[in-house]
Amino acid sequence: MNADIRILGIGSYVPEKVLANADFVKMVDTTDEWILSRTGIRERRVLSDGQANSDMAIGAARRALADAKLTGADLDHIIVCTFTPDTYLPAVACTVQHKLEAGRAFAVDLSAACTGFICGLAHGSALVAAGQAKHVLVVASEALSRVTDYQDRSTCVLFGDGAGAAVLGQSDHGHQIGDFVLHADGAGAEALCIPAGGSRLPASAQTVADRMHYIKMNGREVFKFAVTGMIELIQDAAAKMGMAPKDINLVVPHQVNQRIIQAAVDRLDMRQDQFFCNLERYGNTSAASTGIALDEAVRAGRVKPGDTVLLVAFGAGFTWGSATIKW
Ligand code: ACO
Repeated sequence: MNADIRILGIGSYVPEKVLANADFVKMVDTTDEWILSRTGIRERRVLSDGQANSDMAIGAARRALADAKLTGADLDHIIVCTFTPDTYLPAVACTVQHKLEAGRAFAVDLSAACTGFICGLAHGSALVAAGQAKHVLVVASEALSRVTDYQDRSTCVLFGDGAGAAVLGQSDHGHQIGDFVLHADGAGAEALCIPAGGSRLPASAQTVADRMHYIKMNGREVFKFAVTGMIELIQDAAAKMGMAPKDINLVVPHQVNQRIIQAAVDRLDMRQDQFFCNLERYGNTSAASTGIALDEAVRAGRVKPGDTVLLVAFGAGFTWGSATIKW
């Protein structure tokens, strides 16, 4: 990767409405104790009626642009990473482009599930490195509450809504983007999917009655994949940087389950304080999770100039990947 590709600004946005563990006790057969001990989640944010994905994407984007001291007019390209768009047509990115008055920017959505933010950073960096864009806005935004089955206790407690954003550019200031590692394995597609509403199984009265428009997940299979994936990603990234995992200053992992993060800590002989976690407050926000966590980590003073920061994520597809940033 070109050494001059930098993150110029970051930002995040979560909706105001809180769904606490206690709220689920009224919906499904569960307890606060089960949710907290099996996942580490206490509460999550969800959209209110009338709100949509782009409202969060724009909120995060405005903060990232302000942090970069740029405006929409400075953007050449906008990537919105999501699988929960406002509508299937057009792309959320076009709504974001319009609301930001980013008239010069091309705008496109990217679907890589929970690996979305990292994948968006990789694609945006490549555009800047190739001279195709001077400034790229990457926004990862998910409205998971809109595709969550609040009658399915095995999934509904996990997900929340939110958005994280970064502005990329070629510069001698900002935070230097290093290597990306990106993987996909479509053999895992059925372990985590929304079965209906696409061209395979278009929406019908029957698919709605069968609740096929919600996320279906084989939690145990995804859990095993996630633990293995996260450990390998950290090992690979550390090896590429010529350092041991215990020397990475901060890992910002996909915020999905405290037990997955703990498994990586134990297996890699790392310390819990090397990992930034906010899943307790937001649950799993898929593509947005590493973006929101990075922004909060920086604002909480967990990242100092010169630190090595590693983003790692895994999700539906399967997809998994990492990004290294020299802060
Ligand atoms: N409350 C009470 N009991 C529950 C709940 C609940 N909310 N959910 C499941 N259970 C029950 C199950 O029914 C099962 O009961 P049984 O033994 O009688 O059948 C029991 O708890 C154990 O179920 P498991 O699925 O084995 O529970 P596990 O400890 O694996 O935790 C979880 C489930 C939290 C989903 C876990 O498997 C997990 O975190 N998986 C990974 C999810 C993930 O990484 N997703 C990432 C990508 S998300 C994306 O891409 C959009």
